[in-house]
Amino acid sequence: MTCPRTFSIMILHQELILLIGTSLLAREIFASTSCFSKHQISMYYFCNLTEIPLVPSDTVKFLLSFNNIKQVNANSFPLLEQLLLLEIGLQFTHSVTIGKAAFENLPNLQVLDLGANRHLYLDPDAFVSLSNLTVLRLFGNALGDYILQDNYFQDLISLEDLDLSSNRITSLRPHPLFYNLKSLKRVNLKYNWIQILCEGNLDSFQGKTSLIFSLNSNHLYYSSSVDWAKCGNPLRNINLDTLDVGSNGWHVDIVQNFSTAVEGTSITFLKLDHHIMGAGFGFVNIKDPDNSTFAGLARSGLRLLDISQGFIFSLNPGVFQKLTDLEWLNLYNNKINQIQKGAFFGLGKLNFLNLSYNLLGELYDFTFGGLHNVAIIDLQKNHIGAIRENSFKDLLRLKMVNLRDNAIKIIPSLPTLTTAYLGENKLVSVRYRTIAAMYLDLEKNRLENLGDLYILSQIPDIQYIFLKQNRFSYCVKPDNVMANSQLIYLDLGENMIKLVWDRNLCLDVFWELSKLQVLHLNNNYLTTLPQDIFRGLASLNRLNLASNLLFYLSPGVFPESLKNLNISGNQLLSPDPGVFMTLSILDITHNRYFCDCTLSNLLLWLNTTNTTLAGSQDDIYCVHPPAFAGVPLSLLLFDGCNEDEILKPLQFAVFIFTSVVLVMFITAVIVFIHLRGTCFVWYKKIKRILVDDLRQAPDASAYIYDAYLCYSRKDFEWVQNSLLKHLDSQYSDKNRFTLCFEERDFLPGEDHISNIRDAIWNSRKTICIVTRQFLKDGWCVEALNFAQSRYFCDLKDVLIVVVVGSLSQYQLMKYKPVRVFMQRSRYMRWPEDHQDIGWFLNNLSHQILTEKKVKKKSNVMELQSIATIS
Ligand SMILES: *[C@@H]1O[C@H](CO)[C@@H](O)[C@H](O)[C@H]1NC(C)=O
Ligand SMILES: *[C@@H]1O[C@H](CO)[C@@H](O)[C@H](O)[C@H]1NC(C)=O
Ligand SMILES: *[C@@H]1O[C@H](CO)[C@@H](O)[C@H](O)[C@H]1NC(C)=O
Ligand SMILES: *[C@@H]1O[C@H](CO)[C@@H](O)[C@H](O)[C@H]1NC(C)=O
Ligand SMILES: *[C@@H]1O[C@H](CO)[C@@H](O)[C@H](O)[C@H]1NC(C)=O
Ligand SMILES: *[C@@H]1O[C@H](CO)[C@@H](O)[C@H](O)[C@H]1NC(C)=O
Ligand SMILES: *[C@@H]1O[C@H](CO)[C@@H](O)[C@H](O)[C@H]1NC(C)=O
Ligand SMILES: *[C@@H]1O[C@H](CO)[C@@H](O)[C@H](O)[C@H]1NC(C)=O
Repeated sequence: MTCPRTFSIMILHQELILLIGTSLLAREIFASTSCFSKHQISMYYFCNLTEIPLVPSDTVKFLLSFNNIKQVNANSFPLLEQLLLLEIGLQFTHSVTIGKAAFENLPNLQVLDLGANRHLYLDPDAFVSLSNLTVLRLFGNALGDYILQDNYFQDLISLEDLDLSSNRITSLRPHPLFYNLKSLKRVNLKYNWIQILCEGNLDSFQGKTSLIFSLNSNHLYYSSSVDWAKCGNPLRNINLDTLDVGSNGWHVDIVQNFSTAVEGTSITFLKLDHHIMGAGFGFVNIKDPDNSTFAGLARSGLRLLDISQGFIFSLNPGVFQKLTDLEWLNLYNNKINQIQKGAFFGLGKLNFLNLSYNLLGELYDFTFGGLHNVAIIDLQKNHIGAIRENSFKDLLRLKMVNLRDNAIKIIPSLPTLTTAYLGENKLVSVRYRTIAAMYLDLEKNRLENLGDLYILSQIPDIQYIFLKQNRFSYCVKPDNVMANSQLIYLDLGENMIKLVWDRNLCLDVFWELSKLQVLHLNNNYLTTLPQDIFRGLASLNRLNLASNLLFYLSPGVFPESLKNLNISGNQLLSPDPGVFMTLSILDITHNRYFCDCTLSNLLLWLNTTNTTLAGSQDDIYCVHPPAFAGVPLSLLLFDGCNEDEILKPLQFAVFIFTSVVLVMFITAVIVFIHLRGTCFVWYKKIKRILVDDLRQAPDASAYIYDAYLCYSRKDFEWVQNSLLKHLDSQYSDKNRFTLCFEERDFLPGEDHISNIRDAIWNSRKTICIVTRQFLKDGWCVEALNFAQSRYFCDLKDVLIVVVVGSLSQYQLMKYKPVRVFMQRSRYMRWPEDHQDIGWFLNNLSHQILTEKKVKKKSNVMELQSIATIS
């Protein structure tokens, strides 16, 4: 009976453990954003862990650096068969102890990083069973000589990369187990204390091929003098890909003794950077390397030599003459002032020469003698002022010369190049010398004559020219300019080309550049673009006009091929979108947009175009008028702007109209204030005359007229035939209405606006005949607006709108007063079919006679909707 019960309790117990386990895991997962397991990566940086956390069994990368883990032993990890990378670097504890077989449960581990643990205590069997490990990082662990001399790495038969830098290793006698590490490629012993290394010490490395071996920063051979006869060749029978012995403070004697000692050892790349060879500047008692310094390396097959960052002052004759296999030589940042005749003799295979950041002042015809194969010479940041005509003449394979940041005044002869950097010099002209290049950098010089561009664009094969930050300000066109340039890219930014074109000089400078695709003209103080300036640029794709002073772009100024235009930071007021039609990318940020009706075309275009607008929309903002300063164009709503009005004469008409209305209004106010009494007397008189003149209306109402017909003068003919003849009683006895219209009833001499106003007030209804002409006629729209205002002020709906002709809803809606009317009321449309006219007129008559009262409620809302921008 008890048996099943214990069984069930056991199950319960297991579930409980499982439950606790998962909740612990969950807590760790959600404890912090940097402590989680996801997509087979377990990320536990800075999680205050003191033990290895539980992670999913399919974890591939397990990152545990920056925690407080003190101890790792065989029980720390569950079986993680897929784990490839484990990091337990930099624990904040005083020390980390790795116990016996600590990584036994990680059979496929390939990368193990234990670096930067201040004290790492390793069990001799710590790394057993890691047969797939390829990378082991033990840098900065305060490890001593024992780490190499004992058999810690016994099982690491796949090891390729061993990083033991920044430890406390003083002598090198690697354990014979290293014979078995056949895959070992890279051993890093940088920043240790190995001061001496002699033949026999590295016996267990013998037979290794292509080893990358770093003894950088060890004070090797530095403090104690070495008896080289006894020491022998420390690298005997080792085949080195790279030997890094830089930063060991080696002077010429050490280098010479070392290279003699390792004679015959194969070294492909020797790094000797941060040496102290050379006299430096101003010392004479210290030796520069000479023809015997590197002589010992003659049979090493050296192909790359780095002797940068030192004090070599003079490159002596034949200094490299034994290094006949050398292809790459780095002399960057020495104090080289003199290159003696024959300095590069023997370097017939040299391809790359870096002489940048030295103290060279001049280049002679013999300077580069012997470099038959050199393709790249870097001479930037010297003080080169003078270059002899034939300095580069014999370098038939030369492809790239970097002469940036020197003091060159006259362009040197560079006959074979593809790339020439001549930026940051003192060139004032490009004439006189021959140059061949595909890519020519002349930035930051003192070129002034834009005519030089004709010469440069004639260089055979030239494709890229960089001329920014020069001083182009005048232009003398050379005589024999031929067509057919291959130029693709031209940078003329940050010059003063305005001064050239303002004087109408060289306006044809781009005409022959039919292959040009990219042109930079930014920061040139340009206020206008000469109309034909881009003629001939049939391939132009990108044009940079940023940061000029352009305020207007004339139509057709850009070539049709243009796709990308930067006109940011100019003074454009109201550009015509027509000039942007071909573009797919446009930057028009930071201009001085004048936000009135004339801008509506641009706004409409911006809202509908497929062209990508570069930069933030908020950087396309109004500058004028002041009320809109800083408002982004994307926030503007233009109301009551008719696109046709953009033409200047019409603008002027609108201006006159507004002024007249304003003057009339002010006059009216003054007259009214001062002559109120007289006005009233006159009003009475006129009214009496009018009433006497006209027949009494058929019904006894307060109105003189039944309706005021408001239409454009141009439509009078039509109105007379279609409406007046059928409605007005003077036209026919059958008609019963007394209508008011301008041609007959307006007082001559009276100002037009008061005529309109009187007509509206004296009529029961106002009928607006809305045609295309009507909308264009300011008086008519004003009349409509005025009649409408009675709706709001007197709560009388006196307005009848008759739309005639093919005006679309959209066209009508463009006009504020019409829109306001349409929002509250229906308009009548003149019938298209002749049969319906009788019915229509009947309907209209009915409307004239019915009085419409307005409900007060809706007023407030409608009034609010009248608010307009612009
Ligand atoms: C680790 O401890 C520090 C200080 O005690 C605390 O600020 C931090 O939030 C903790 N981090 C985690 C992931 O718990
Ligand atoms: C090690 O790698 C090899 C091939 O990369 C693989 O076949 C083997 O399963 C891996 N694991 C062990 C423990 O050797
Ligand atoms: C270089 O070797 C020579 C000859 O063995 C010796 O006289 C000299 O002291 C050595 N120089 C240095 C710096 O080891
Ligand atoms: C080095 O140059 C000197 C004189 O310039 C010459 O006497 C000597 O033979 C040269 N040494 C070698 C190894 O070429
Ligand atoms: C020459 O060395 C300097 C410094 O390392 C480097 O900036 C420059 O790119 C090198 N030149 C070339 C052509 O690689
Ligand atoms: C842009 O177009 C959308 C619809 O096409 C319209 O809703 C929006 O008001 C327009 N914006 C402007 C500034 O015209
Ligand atoms: C914008 O692109 C759409 C889809 O590619 C196209 O239908 C439309 O005509 C384009 N509009 C303009 C103004 O080019
Ligand atoms: C246009 O030129 C300005 C000023 O040089 C720059 O800030 C901006 O990034 C350029 N725009 C594009 C799209 O390259």
